Amino acid sequence: MASDAPTQAPPLTDAHGRRISYLRISVTDRCDLRCRYCMSEKMQFLPRRDILSFEEIDAIAGAFVERGVRKIRLTGGEPLVRGGVMDLVRMLGRHRENGDLDELTMTTNATRLAEHAEALVDAGVRRVNVSLDTRDPETFRYITRWGEIGRTLDGIAAAKAAGLRVKINMVGLKGLNDREIVPMMRWCADEGHDLTLIETMPLGQIDDDRHDRYLPLDAVQRDLEDRFTLVPLMERTGGPARYWNVGELGLKLGLITPLTNNFCAGCNRVRITVSGKIYMCLGHDDHLDLKTALREGGREALDRVLDQAMILKPLAHDFAIRADNAEPAVSRHMSVTGG
Ligand code: 5AD
Ligand code: SF4
Repeated sequence: MASDAPTQAPPLTDAHGRRISYLRISVTDRCDLRCRYCMSEKMQFLPRRDILSFEEIDAIAGAFVERGVRKIRLTGGEPLVRGGVMDLVRMLGRHRENGDLDELTMTTNATRLAEHAEALVDAGVRRVNVSLDTRDPETFRYITRWGEIGRTLDGIAAAKAAGLRVKINMVGLKGLNDREIVPMMRWCADEGHDLTLIETMPLGQIDDDRHDRYLPLDAVQRDLEDRFTLVPLMERTGGPARYWNVGELGLKLGLITPLTNNFCAGCNRVRITVSGKIYMCLGHDDHLDLKTALREGGREALDRVLDQAMILKPLAHDFAIRADNAEPAVSRHMSVTGG
């Protein structure tokens, strides 16, 4: 055997036989909003020296792509608040251009989407997920603590005008937006957007009581089934969402129900934080440090940590919303690991 042949690291497959084809990268833990279910009002963000540079993110993403990742989602925090983030999107867009990636996408709150929509399309992005829990300006301000809904709606309109497909993410919040679910479905159908409803997950300490606002989506689904024809779609994205076509509206509707429904068996994803930690599951605190591996040992050390991550990826999460809200199941916020 030729000893100087380049070693080809194998595709990423975990100990449970799941192929890892989907990488989520949190590009910042910061956000210009403070959604109550997501963050506390006063958040302690990471100091800048602890976060990965764009070159480092690109190097890590490149290793994942070589090892079989076909889809990358940029998340946060709010990705578009990181200065110069479009440079990173363009760097990653190379993998789209040469066919190594099927999809490069982003989850955003859309406050800055109007400025960036066209550049995203130019960089190879075709779809974005936008967090929008309400279309009522006052409820929006309340949920986000200070957000202006006009900016978000302008951002969504700009995305549509630029040719991006938009999926609206709406977190179900009891007593806040439950009565808006059907109007949101109609609006999304009229605008040509998809809609996904999400259950609140116990991630990170927040000021409010999550239990008060927890809206079990299995009940919502039963209500919707009384009013509409929900035709289940076979499509699975290897994630928590199940999809339906709402016959009367021509709407694609997704439900993400981590608490009322377990979805882990087909999990195909891992997440990296802006400080370079890899989390094998959103619902576990276990992680490994890619940043140190990359900075001290280069690509080889990175591959070793990825192999170890595959061994450690757990079979399933163990979320539960505790009635006393004493401790979240997972201490880090969604903005650290990305949604
Ligand atoms: N539970 C459920 N969804 C959350 N998000 C942020 N924090 C939480 C949480 N604790 C949502 C955002 C965004 C998506 C990525 O995750 O609204 O749409
Ligand atoms: Fe920001 Fe999204 Fe969290 Fe809201 S849910 S505070 S928009 S990261």
